[in-house]
Amino acid sequence: MPSDVTKPAEPKPEPTTPAVAPETATPAVATETATPAATEPAPAPTAEAAPATAEVATATPPVPEPEPLPPRQGSPLNDAALDQLFRSARTQYGWTGAAVSDEDLRAIFDLMKWGPTSANSSPARFLFIRTQSAKDRLRPALSSGNLQKTMLAPVTVIVAYDPKFYDYLPRLFPHTDAKPWFTSNPELAHETAFRNGTLQGAYFMMAARALGFGLGPMSGFDNAKVDAEFLADRGWKSNFLVNLGHGDPAAEKPRGPRFWFDETCLVL
Ligand SMILES: Cc1cc2nc3c(=O)[nH]c(=O)nc-3n(C[C@H](O)[C@H](O)[C@H](O)COP(=O)(O)O)c2cc1C
Repeated sequence: MPSDVTKPAEPKPEPTTPAVAPETATPAVATETATPAATEPAPAPTAEAAPATAEVATATPPVPEPEPLPPRQGSPLNDAALDQLFRSARTQYGWTGAAVSDEDLRAIFDLMKWGPTSANSSPARFLFIRTQSAKDRLRPALSSGNLQKTMLAPVTVIVAYDPKFYDYLPRLFPHTDAKPWFTSNPELAHETAFRNGTLQGAYFMMAARALGFGLGPMSGFDNAKVDAEFLADRGWKSNFLVNLGHGDPAAEKPRGPRFWFDETCLVL
C-alpha cells in the first residue's frame, strides 16, 4: 500500500458493476483463532444411481458427465439492493418523523443474528434506547456533536458485548467444549468478544439497511459512563452507538471519497 494515500497512483476507473465472485472461488482468509476447529463433517456417501442396464450400456456408448460445478453460495443481489446496502446508503444525521417499532427491532435482530462469529460466540448485546427517560440517561455520555441528532433519533442502539460470552458456548457451539479456550486465556476472550461484537454491530447496521432503515453510527461518547449507567449490572461493555430511524436526506453530509482497490488491497 502506498504510504502517501493522498497521492495514489493513477487509479483505473472502477467497474460500474461490482464483480461478485462466487465464494467458492475465493480461498478462506482466516481460520478461527482458537484452533481446534471443528472440521466440516464429510458428506455422507450418497446412494449412487443404479447402473444402467446391460442392454443400454452396450447399445449406447457412455457419455461423460460434465464436471460438476462447485456449489454457489447464492447469486448476486440486484443493483437496487446493492445500492440500498452500500452505494446509495448514507450515514444519517437527521430523521423524518417515522417511528421504529418493536417489531422492526426484532426483524433487524433476526437478520443480524445469522452473521458469522468465531465459535458461533455471538457476543454482541443490544440496548435499544427509545423512551425520553432512557434518552435522558444517555445524554451525559454523548459528545456535544452527537447530542442533538441522538436526542431526535427514534431509537439509539447501544452496541455492547458480553465479556463472559463463553458461558453460552455449551449452547451455541455444542459439538465442542470451547469454553475452556477462553476461560484459560483472558486475552483471547477479550479479543474474541470485541472482534465478534464489532462484527455483529456491523451486521446489525447492514440488516437495518436491508430492511430499509437509515442509521448513524457513533463512537463519540463516554463508554465508561454508558457502561456505568446501563450495563454494569450485567457486566456488559459498550462498543459503539447507532442512531436508527428513517433518515432525512437534507441532513446528510457530502459523501466522502473512498480508497481505490489498488491502494488498499493486495492479491497474493
Ligand atoms: C464506528 C463509527 C463511529 C462513528 N462515529 C461518529 C461520531 O461519533 N459522530 C458522527 O457524527 N459520525 C460518526 N460516524 C459516521 C462516519 O463519519 C460516517 O459513517 C462516514 O463518514 C461515512 O459516511 P457515509 O456513510 O455518508 O459515506 C461514525 C461511523 C462509524 C462506523
